[in-house]
Amino acid sequence: MKEYISDPVFEKIAETAAAQGIDAYVIGGYVRDCLLNRPSKDIDIVVVGSGISLARKVAAALDRKIHVTVFKNFGTANFRYRNREIEFVGARKESYRHDSRKPVVEDGTLEDDQKRRDFTINALAISLNQADYGTLLDPFNGLADLKEKIIRTPLEPDTTFSDDPLRMVRAIRFATQLDFQIENTALESIARNIDRLNILSRERIADEMNKILLAQRPSKGFRLLESTGLLPLILPEVAALKGVESMEGRFHKDNFFHSIEVLDNICRHTDNLWLRWAALIHDIGKPVTKKYSPETGWTFHGHDFIGSKMVPELFKKMKLPLNEKMKYVQKLVLLHLRPIVLSQENITDSAVRRLLFEAGDDIDDLMTLCEADITSKNEELKKKYLANFSLVRQKLKELEEKDRIRNFEPPVSGNDIMETFGLGPCREVGTIKTAIKDAILDGIIANHPDEAYAFMLKMGEELGLKVRKIIVPGHNTDPETQEGDR
Ligand code: CTP
Repeated sequence: MKEYISDPVFEKIAETAAAQGIDAYVIGGYVRDCLLNRPSKDIDIVVVGSGISLARKVAAALDRKIHVTVFKNFGTANFRYRNREIEFVGARKESYRHDSRKPVVEDGTLEDDQKRRDFTINALAISLNQADYGTLLDPFNGLADLKEKIIRTPLEPDTTFSDDPLRMVRAIRFATQLDFQIENTALESIARNIDRLNILSRERIADEMNKILLAQRPSKGFRLLESTGLLPLILPEVAALKGVESMEGRFHKDNFFHSIEVLDNICRHTDNLWLRWAALIHDIGKPVTKKYSPETGWTFHGHDFIGSKMVPELFKKMKLPLNEKMKYVQKLVLLHLRPIVLSQENITDSAVRRLLFEAGDDIDDLMTLCEADITSKNEELKKKYLANFSLVRQKLKELEEKDRIRNFEPPVSGNDIMETFGLGPCREVGTIKTAIKDAILDGIIANHPDEAYAFMLKMGEELGLKVRKIIVPGHNTDPETQEGDR
């Protein structure tokens, strides 16, 4: 194991601990990730004695300028050194919790500490002590579980999970990230204890959900969340997508399995967490809009619109950001059918311009989502859809180069209209502005100030407005009404 602790920082910790006459070990995620050949970031050190005191001494020995953050109540201290977070904790008999509100008081041995951790693969420790420097200490066969790809709790699962119910979600998160199996009794215990989830903060749960979504194949996590019964407690909107109904022998597809397939598809093309969220929830409007009629079969009319309206509430409940990230997801949910509809009709310039106008800079992500949304098992059909999409993409490119609609700024402003016709703010100004925008999107005029101004004059005439002054659009001369001043 010595190769894993070759960084000089481990030597410093070992020296300092030896000088104090106390034992110290590297433990947890760092050891696990080294053994799995995954990039490891943070280092956790468990000390049989005071973690705080050792942290201070090691920091001073490394560099006097290091700032040590101490959490006295929890008996932990940490500092940053060369881009790594190093945390020290005293070995404890109680459950190990990073963010527990309960202060941890009772000191324990290394093994006491290991058995109160979440999983055998996270309880592996490497000794930093002279007598057995570099030895792996593995009382719960974590190494074997790593090799066999098993998530197992060191103690009886009910005990481990009741120490911190978030571990139920963590089990699923690790199984997803590492592509491991959760050992059976642990899986049963999760299904039995799902109600304990309600004592957890939403932030901690959301953090785990984000990690599941950022895995290579998140569908695995969502299948587990669903089969254990956790999903309806965490994301009821996604759980509601599950199920197939039939009427007169006609079925609709299971939208839960469809959604997680779309999610896996999109993961092959993007690391963008919010685009992945959009893929997961793009159909959440379906259960409420579902209808059957003998003429049309199953329909979900308006599920794009209803779904987008559901996004803010979902984000709020999950304590996800309510800023532009939420708006981005909302926009993608709202527009997710548009490119499909486009590709099924004959693709008019006007429809493509309108889509560009509404999607703006998110058009490429929208197209990625739509392509991921094709989950048909019929290869011929799939090929046809993808070919249509590539046509839409090509049209988007051509029109964007020609008309620059992506970040549309009206070529004639409200001020230009008011100045020309000697108007104050009124309904006519809005009518003219909208008409100019529509004329550009419909390809009646080009996205150019001169053409827009001429069109505006014509509109004014139709509305019976008198021209007071001819101006150069976009160059407002009246300092009182400069755009920036309002
Ligand atoms: N741990 C635990 N129970 C928890 C959280 C953490 O037993 N609810 C222990 C595990 O031993 C874990 C270590 O604390 O390895 C560090 O926790 P954390 O940093 O959350 O996880 P990592 O295992 O480092 O993994 P990741 O960085 O991917 O979250």
